[in-house]
Formats: sequence, structure tokens, C-alpha cells
Amino acid sequence: MKVKLREISKVFYSEKSEEKEVLQRLSLDIYEGDFFCLVGTSGSGKSTLLKLIAGLERPTRGEVLIDDQLVERPSAKQVLIFQDYALLPWRNVQDNVEFGLEIQKIPPAKRRATAEKYIRLVGLNGHEGKYPRELSGGMCQRVAVARALTLNPEILLMDEPFSALDTITRERLEEEMVRLWELERKTIVFVTHDLREALFLGTRVGIMDSTYGRVVETEKIELPRPRRSGSAAFTALQDRLKQKLAWGRAI
Ligand SMILES: Nc1ncnc2c1ncn2[C@@H]1O[C@H](COP(=O)(O)OP(=O)(O)OP(=O)(O)O)[C@@H](O)[C@H]1O
Ligand SMILES: [Mg+2]
Repeated sequence: MKVKLREISKVFYSEKSEEKEVLQRLSLDIYEGDFFCLVGTSGSGKSTLLKLIAGLERPTRGEVLIDDQLVERPSAKQVLIFQDYALLPWRNVQDNVEFGLEIQKIPPAKRRATAEKYIRLVGLNGHEGKYPRELSGGMCQRVAVARALTLNPEILLMDEPFSALDTITRERLEEEMVRLWELERKTIVFVTHDLREALFLGTRVGIMDSTYGRVVETEKIELPRPRRSGSAAFTALQDRLKQKLAWGRAI
């Protein structure tokens, strides 16, 4: 098992020191090479779950394991790509992509070559000298993906990476994510509000429910690739899972 969440609880305290148990005895297994998509309503704890896997938060109870080892802090094995890209505005594309390697004290020539490889992979070659303010949202997202990939993580954690993008850009980036995943076979945990996006991308989909504070349902997605969101099989599955999402909320 690549990622194992064992009976995770996460308690936050409000400003008035009231306890709120966001995750409640959540258990989840994510397999090596999975493209696991997590959907759920706002506030159900999806970002919290990613931060726990990233080692940026610690569970109140329970354990997060990667390759059977307890996650106690962030490591190069797993990287989290935030929704707002977190690019450095004073650095151009090339230097933003090299940033993680610089922190790791990789020599400049190696840094450059690695960055160039991933800039090409995400289709940003020719834009190396541009600054974030000169890029569209979709391009910024690609820079963030390229930067994460340079670190050669085993697990990519992505928190609603495309939610701010227009439909056309979003669908193009979804196709590219599938291509990247097919090429690199990384384990991906991808959070989205959008069930259609999850079914387009995922090998498995997990449904988070805020009432229970856990993943109430996981479903293996067997739709053949390339997937078409309008197809009959796609729509049927989407309708069936939508009911499960709605069912959770109605309680
Ligand atoms: N550091 C924190 N301190 C207190 N409460 C927090 C903290 N982080 C998250 N929460 C609360 O935990 C709950 C779950 O938050 P989380 O951000 O994980 O939800 P989410 O599913 O990612 O929501 P969204 O879809 O809106 O991004 C929310 O009620 C939020 O207010
Ligand atoms: Mg969130």
C-alpha cells in the first residue's frame, strides 16, 4: 500500500476554543500508481486530508503511513500543489521551476537540464523567460506542476488545481494530467469539487462526507480511456455517484 490512513481523527479548535472534529476515524488505502480523486462538499475536510498526507498537519488520533512508514513531517516523497500555485512573482518560469532543486542544493547545470525536461513535458517551452504576471492561470498551474515534478516525488498531492480556470483550459489540463500520469505512473491524490473531473481523471474516486467526517464510499472507475464525459457509460456512472454525494448531504 502506498498511502495508508488508519483511523484518522482531526480536531480543530475555533476561536472560542470549541472543538470541531473534522475527520472522524477515517481509514483509506491508496495504491501505488493510483490516480485517486477525492470529491466532497465544501468543508468536508479534503484539504485537511491532503495536508495530513503531505506531513504539513498531524492527526489528532490515528496514523498516516507512506510505504508503511509513519508520516511525521513533509518529505521529498510527497509534494502538495496548492490551488493558488504559490509561484514566486519575481522569478521567471525557468527559475520558478528550478526553485525546489535550488533548495536541495542541486548544481546549476543539473538544475537547468531537469527544469527544461519538465517545462517541455507540461508544454511551456518557449515561455521560460516569462514572469507569473505575464502568464494565464492555466500556464501558472503548469509551472506549479513542472516544479513539483522536478523533485521526482513518488506521490503528487493536488488540491483543486484547476478550479479557478475556464472550462476549455481546464479540460485541456485534465487531458494533460492523464497523459502525465500514464507517462510517469506516479501515485496521485487529486481533490476536486467536480464529480465529472474526478470521473474523467481517476482510477478511483472517494466521496468525502462532512456529516461523518470520512470517506463514505470509494469506487473503482473502469471507464476505458480516452474517456468522454458525454458518453452514456460516463453519464450513468456520474448520475449514480451524484446520488451518493447528495445522499450524504441530506442526512
Ligand atoms: N487550521 C484550522 N483551524 C481551525 N479550523 C480549520 C483549520 N483548517 C480547517 N479547518 C476547518 O475544518 C473544516 C474542513 O476544512 P477543509 O479546508 O479541509 O475542507 P475542504 O473539504 O477542503 O473544503 P473546500 O472544498 O471548501 O476547500 C472546515 O470547517 C474548516 O473551517
Ligand atoms: Mg479545500
